[in-house]
Amino acid sequence: MICYFNGHFLNLSDIKVSPFDRGFLFADGVYESIRTYNKKLFRYEDHLDRLKRSLKETRINFTELASIENIIYELMIKNDIDDEALAYLQITRGSAIPRTHSFPKEKISPTIFISVQNLKENTKEQTKGVKVILQEDVRWLRCDIKSTSLLPVVLASQKATEQGAAEAILVRDELITEGTHTNFFAIKNETVYTAPTSRFILEGITRKFVLELCEKFKVDYCEEFINKDDLKSFEEFFITSTAKEITPVTEIDYWRINQGNPGKITMSLQSLFKKIVEDY
Ligand code: PDD
Repeated sequence: MICYFNGHFLNLSDIKVSPFDRGFLFADGVYESIRTYNKKLFRYEDHLDRLKRSLKETRINFTELASIENIIYELMIKNDIDDEALAYLQITRGSAIPRTHSFPKEKISPTIFISVQNLKENTKEQTKGVKVILQEDVRWLRCDIKSTSLLPVVLASQKATEQGAAEAILVRDELITEGTHTNFFAIKNETVYTAPTSRFILEGITRKFVLELCEKFKVDYCEEFINKDDLKSFEEFFITSTAKEITPVTEIDYWRINQGNPGKITMSLQSLFKKIVEDY
C-alpha cells in the first residue's frame, strides 16, 4: 500500500510516526474521509471547506491544502484502485519534545497522512436496512469539528457491534444528535427530520446533499432535534455518511420498524441519490 506522509509517497511499511506526535499523545488532530463516484472525488470542495474549518477551530496551522486533491488522485493510480475509492486524510498538530498540553513553544510542522483504499459498497445494508442501538452521547461540546479524538464513539460503536447493530445513535439530554459516524434522519407525515447544525453534530456532507435533494424534489424537511421518547411517533428512519450513503434503519433497540422493512420515502430518496451520483 502506498500512502502519502509529510510530503512523500511511501510504502506503508516505511512510514514512521514519532511517539511524541501530538496526534498519538493527545488525539490533537483532525481528519476527513472522501469517496469517489465514477473515480471522481465527490463534493471535494465541501470536504475541503470542512477540513479548513476543523483546522481553523483547532488552530492547527496546515497550509498546503491546494495539493491534497491531486495527491489523492495520485494515490489512486499508485495503488491501482480499479473501482471506487475511499480516502482518509489525517492531520495532527505535529510532534514536539517535551510533552506539554499547551501548544509547543517552538514552531512545529503538522503531520499529514493520506491513505486510499477500494471502497466496499454496503449493498445489503442499503437494500435491507440496518439495526441501530441508542447510546448516551458523552462526547465533548464541539462535535462540529471533525477531530480525531474519537474514544467516546469508538466505545459506543463497539457496544453496537456487540449487540449485532450497525450503528449507535447518540442521545444527549434526551435529544437525538447523530450516529457515531453517521447523521440520523427520521420521517413522519411526509416530512424529513434531522438534528440542526450546531456544536452537537458534525455537519455531514451526505446530510447536506440529502437536504439539497429534499429541496430539489420538494420533500418537506425540518432541522429539529427529536426527543428519544418521541421516536415511536415517526414512521421511517435512515442514517447517512460518505460510505453508507442513505442506509435505512429498520430496528432501534429491538423495536422493529414497519415489520423490518425500509420506509418508502427513504427508499425513494435513496434512488434519487443513486441516480444523481451515477452521472457524477
Ligand atoms: N464519519 N457524523 C459523524 C460523527 C461522523 O463521523 C460522520 C462521518 C458523519 C457523516 O459525515 P459525511 O456525510 O460527511 O461522511 C456524521 C466518517 C465517514 C468516519 O468517521 O469515517
